[in-house]
Amino acid sequence: MRLPGDKSIAHRYAMLAAIAEGKSELKNFPAGADCASTLACVRALGVEVTKEDSRVEILGRGPKLARPNTTLDCGNSGSTMRMLAGILAGQEFECELRGDESLSRRPMERIIAPLRRMGAEIESAEGGRPPLRLRGAGSRLRAIDHTTPVASAQVKSCVLFAGLFADGTTSLTEPARTRDHTEIALRGFGAEVKSEGGQIRVAGGQRLHALQAEIPGDISSAAFFLCAAALLPGSQLLIDNLLLNPTRAALLDVLAELGARISIIEVNDQHGELAGRVQIEAGELRGISISGMLAATLIDELPVLAAIAPFTERGAEIRDAAELRVKESDRIAAIAHNLRAMGAQVEELADGWRIPGRQRLRGGEVKSGGDHRIAMSFAVAALRAEGETSIQGADAAKISYPEFFDVLGRLAQA
Ligand code: S3P
Repeated sequence: MRLPGDKSIAHRYAMLAAIAEGKSELKNFPAGADCASTLACVRALGVEVTKEDSRVEILGRGPKLARPNTTLDCGNSGSTMRMLAGILAGQEFECELRGDESLSRRPMERIIAPLRRMGAEIESAEGGRPPLRLRGAGSRLRAIDHTTPVASAQVKSCVLFAGLFADGTTSLTEPARTRDHTEIALRGFGAEVKSEGGQIRVAGGQRLHALQAEIPGDISSAAFFLCAAALLPGSQLLIDNLLLNPTRAALLDVLAELGARISIIEVNDQHGELAGRVQIEAGELRGISISGMLAATLIDELPVLAAIAPFTERGAEIRDAAELRVKESDRIAAIAHNLRAMGAQVEELADGWRIPGRQRLRGGEVKSGGDHRIAMSFAVAALRAEGETSIQGADAAKISYPEFFDVLGRLAQA
């Protein structure tokens, strides 16, 4: 199988293409609602975007975008709001960013504080929540040295994007290494970015040029199939053109350690992003232990790992993942609730879970809570449970992977 292009990379490519010079062509652009939100915002900022199936063309405007005549609707997408805010900080106009109910509960102070220090004016709802009213500082934007208290690639990207417009060199230091697609994408679009000992630096005033690229398959979407294949005896799955960026591919190491048989057959470099062919076969699954930096790297894959944990020999202990509480839903609570609905024992911790192994789960009624990764995680757990599982709000999968249930159905019959 092949996966639609990686959502994280697609957001970045679309935003950078908008402020580059020339026409960018992006192949394997994912169909999910989150990336559609980014394209709609970019269009509202005066950028010409054409999309035909999974091929997107973006005619960049250079650094100056047009003032939108509507509120920029980021939908469910935290990436859209946080990263775009960085680019808007460098514009000359005022605009408003809003999101759906889930996004309206998510913390934005983490980007508001650095952007204010750079000179942008930002107002938010109570507690630093969306909607945001943002007045860019244009050419008066100041370069800063920023240390993020949370390990967040969205915050890093926001500050680096703003740094492109600032009057000097902006630096960012993060507490744990997060996905580095922004650094790689900036280089792909012709900017110079220095990365050394946990600090990333970008100089303002750099011009970007258009990029022609194929986006490698989304490993966070593949995670559901990889975990299903690891879990179901006799399974074998071959995935082509899968994103293998080391800051994203820790799941493969975790699954191999867990007992699945994995081989990586070919690896190639696509504008700095590694992609390749991955084969996985089911095995006896031992146990999962995740904490510290690994939790930050695996943040989007932790829900599905927790969902398969009851079927492993020793179960799982997953810690240092408190950020999961401020994702599209409170994923720590949602996983605990749904596992219990299927008859599992689970201990909910402030920053993760303790889940005993060798449990038998029965099909039950679970809820996505409007969260795509929760819906897909429980589709995987349901495959090993006894009896039928019904997932309320399963259509949340459309946020990142509208084709998910069709593809899973086809694979399950193969
Ligand atoms: C993302 C970073 C992560 C991740 C999200 C995508 C990105 O969020 O959970 O799905 O593309 O930079 P945080 O930056 O909030 O950790």
